[in-house]
Amino acid sequence: MINIDAHNHVKGKSIYLDDIQELQGTLYALPFDATVAHAKIVSINLESALNAHGIETILTAKDIPGENQIGGIIPDEPLFADGEVHFRGQVIALIIGKSEHHCRQAAKLIKVVYEELPIITDAREAQAKNKLIMPPRSFTLGNTSEVWSTCDYVFEGKTEVNGQEHLYIETQGAYARPKEDGSIIISSSTQGPTAVQRMVARVLGIPMHKIEIDTVRLGGGFGGKEDQATPWAVMVALASQLLHKPVKMAMHRMDDMRMTGKRHPYSADFKIGLTKDLKIIAYEVTHYQNAGAAADLSPAVMERTLFHSTNAYYIPNVLAKAYSCKTNLPPNTAFRGFGGPQGKFVIEAAIVKAAESLGINPAVIQKANLVVDGNELSYGQILQQTEAHHTWDECMNSFQYNLQKERVETFNATNSRFKKGLAVQPICFGISFTNTMMNHARALVHIYHDGSVVVSTGAVEMGQGVNTKLLQIATETFGIKPSSVRIESTNTLRVANTSPTAASAGADLNGKALQMACNALLDRLKAVANQDFENATIAINDEVIYANDLKTEVTWHQLVTKAFTQRVALSENSHYATPTIHYDKTKEKGHPFAYHVYGTAIIEVTLDCLKGVYNFDSVNIVHDFGKSMNATIDNGQIEGGLVQGIGWMTLEEIIYNDQGRLVSNALSTYKVPDIYSVPKQINIKHLDTAGHELAINKSKAVGEPPLMYGLGAYFAIRNAVKAFNPNVDLAVNAPYTPEKVLMDLYKKA
Ligand code: MTE
Ligand code: HPA
Ligand code: MOS
Repeated sequence: MINIDAHNHVKGKSIYLDDIQELQGTLYALPFDATVAHAKIVSINLESALNAHGIETILTAKDIPGENQIGGIIPDEPLFADGEVHFRGQVIALIIGKSEHHCRQAAKLIKVVYEELPIITDAREAQAKNKLIMPPRSFTLGNTSEVWSTCDYVFEGKTEVNGQEHLYIETQGAYARPKEDGSIIISSSTQGPTAVQRMVARVLGIPMHKIEIDTVRLGGGFGGKEDQATPWAVMVALASQLLHKPVKMAMHRMDDMRMTGKRHPYSADFKIGLTKDLKIIAYEVTHYQNAGAAADLSPAVMERTLFHSTNAYYIPNVLAKAYSCKTNLPPNTAFRGFGGPQGKFVIEAAIVKAAESLGINPAVIQKANLVVDGNELSYGQILQQTEAHHTWDECMNSFQYNLQKERVETFNATNSRFKKGLAVQPICFGISFTNTMMNHARALVHIYHDGSVVVSTGAVEMGQGVNTKLLQIATETFGIKPSSVRIESTNTLRVANTSPTAASAGADLNGKALQMACNALLDRLKAVANQDFENATIAINDEVIYANDLKTEVTWHQLVTKAFTQRVALSENSHYATPTIHYDKTKEKGHPFAYHVYGTAIIEVTLDCLKGVYNFDSVNIVHDFGKSMNATIDNGQIEGGLVQGIGWMTLEEIIYNDQGRLVSNALSTYKVPDIYSVPKQINIKHLDTAGHELAINKSKAVGEPPLMYGLGAYFAIRNAVKAFNPNVDLAVNAPYTPEKVLMDLYKKA
C-alpha cells in the first residue's frame, strides 16, 4: 500500500495547521521573547504597544488564571517569564492582534529593562558550578575498577557532539477556538495531544474534560513536537479563553529556530579497556548533557543515553554516568534517537581510538564485541533474538565489504588530492518508552451501518506513515477495501490519556490496540454470519464473506447491516499495554525494552583534500525490520533517518555565542543536507528473520534507529582525513564540517 497521504501531499491538498479554515474574527498571537540569556526583569512597559493599531491585548505571567508552569517531567519551566529570564528566546509576553503584521509592529514598542546575570552556555562549566537539572545517574555492570589492571590495552579520550535543529518543514503552531461553557478546542501541531491538554488544564486552571485537542497531521516532528509544541498551544488557548475569541499562531522559521530547543549537545570522557584478543572488558563513560535552562525531556533523554552507552556491544564491566547540566540556552528536547545517538557516538569514538592506537581496522574490534543472545546489558536486560552478528555478516557478505575495502585502499594509494574513507556502523536500539508507564495506547473503531469504518487512535501522523500502517491493520483484519476505512484525526475526546507518538513505538502501541478492537468487532460479525452458515469457519476477503473457504453471496456491507438490525454493537474501544517490560530506577536494573532493532551500515566517502569537502559515495545497509508490513514506507524511514543522521554528523552546526545568542539562526547559516549531500547510492537490504511478537505484525519499529547509521559518516570522513594526514592526532568533535575537516587535513602531526 502506498502512503495514503502521498497524493494529497503532492497536490497540496493535505491539511496542516496553517491550512485550517479560519473562523471569522480569528485573532493572531505573537510571542515576545527575551533578548538576553540570563537576567532579572526590572520592568516591562507595554503601554505604547497596547495602544498600537490593531492590538487586542498583551498577556504576561500575571494574566494566567491557573499555574504559570509547563514543565512536564520537572515543574521548572514557566509559560511566561516571571521576574527572571533564563535563555534568549524565552517568552515574556504574548501579543494578540488583528493580524500578525499588527503584532510585529507592536512588538517593537515593548520596553523591557533587564539587570543582567552571568551566563553559562557550556555543560561542563555548569556541572562544575553544580548547576544540574537533577542528580546524576549511573549504570553499572560488573566492576570496572577491578579489571583495569587485567586489561592489555587501556585508552582514554574525550568527545564532543553538537545539537541539531529539527527543521520540521511545518513550524510550530496552534489554533484555539472557544466552545460552550468555557470549554475549548485547540488544533495543535503536536506529537503529544494529551501533553498539550494536560498543560492547558494546568495553566488555565480548568479540568481536562473541557479541553479538546485535535491533530490532523504534522509536517514533521522528529521529536521537536513531543513536548515543545505545548507552549504555543497553551498560549493561544489562554488568549482564546480570556478574550472569548479564536486565536491562532503559526511561527516564522527564525522565531521557531530561536525560541525552541534542539537535540542535546553532549561532552563526554571515556576509558576503554581491551584484552589482547580485542575483547572490550571494561568501559567507563561520563556524559555531560547540555540540557538548556529547564528540564523539558532532558531527564528521559539522558536516561536513553545511558541505556545506549554500549551500543551493539557486549561489555561485561561498565560504569556509565551522566549529568544533566543546566545552561542559559533554550531547553533542549527530544530528537530522533532521544539521547541514544549521543551515547553511541562515544563508544564508537572509543573503539576508533583503540583501533587507531593499535594500528588496526576499527571494524575488527566492533565485530569482536557484538552482542549475542544471553548477554546482559548494563541495565540488566538479557538480550534475546539478537541480530547484531546476523546483520553484520549479511552486510559484509552481500555488499562485498572486503572488495570495497581493497578498492578504497588502492584508490588512496594512487590518489593524492582525493582520499576515500570507509566505516562500518552497527546499531542496536531499544524499542519502548524508557518510562515503562508510557507504553500503552488505545483505539476506537466505529463500523457505520453502510459498512464504512472510521478509526481513531492516539497515533499522530508526522510523515512517518503511521496512518497508512493503521489503515493496513484495519483493512487486513476486517478483509475490506482501503477505501472503506478512514483514519481520523488524533483527538483527545475520542482517545484519551495518550502517550506522545514517539520512541518509534507509535505503530506498535496504537497498531496493537487497533488490532484488538478490530478483532473484537470481527468476532461479533462472524457470530452474525454463523447464523446462516452454521459452524462454518467464517472469513472475509475483499468485502465478501467466505464460509469454510467457500465464497458466499453475502457481502461485508450486508453482514454489517444485518448485525446492525440485530442491535449488535458496531463500535469498539481497545486498550493495549506492552507486556514483559519493567524497570526499577532505584537499582537501575530491569527489562525496559520490548525488543531491540539491529542493523549494520557500510559508509564510503570521498574527500577532496584541497577543499575539505566530501561526498558520500554509498551507504550499504542490512536492517532488521522483522517482517516489514510496508517496505516502501519503512525504506523511506531508513533513507530519511540516515540522511538526517549524516546531516547531524557533518553539516549541521548549531552555534550559540557566549552570550547565548543563536548565531546559526536561519537556513543561510545553518546548513542541512540537500539532495547533493545525500549519498549517491543507498542500498537497503532487509534481514531475513522471524520478527518479534511484540512488534505489530512482527514488523519492527523503524522510526529512529536508522538515524544512527549516520554516526558512521563521521568516522568514514575521519578515515579519509587519516589517509591524507596519517600521523595527526585528531579530536572527536561532531559535526565534522568541511571547515573542520580542512583544518585537520593540514594539522601538524
Ligand atoms: N519521519 C518523518 N517523515 N517525520 C517525522 O517527524 N519522526 C521520527 C520518526 N520518523 C519523524 C519520522 C521520530 S523522532 C519518531 S519517534 C518516529 O518517527 C515516530 O513515529 P512512529 O512511532 O510511528 O515510528
Ligand atoms: N523515547 C522517546 N520519547 C520519550 C521517551 C523515550 O524513551 N520517554 C519519554 N518520551
Ligand atoms: Mo521521537 S525523538 O521519540 O519523537
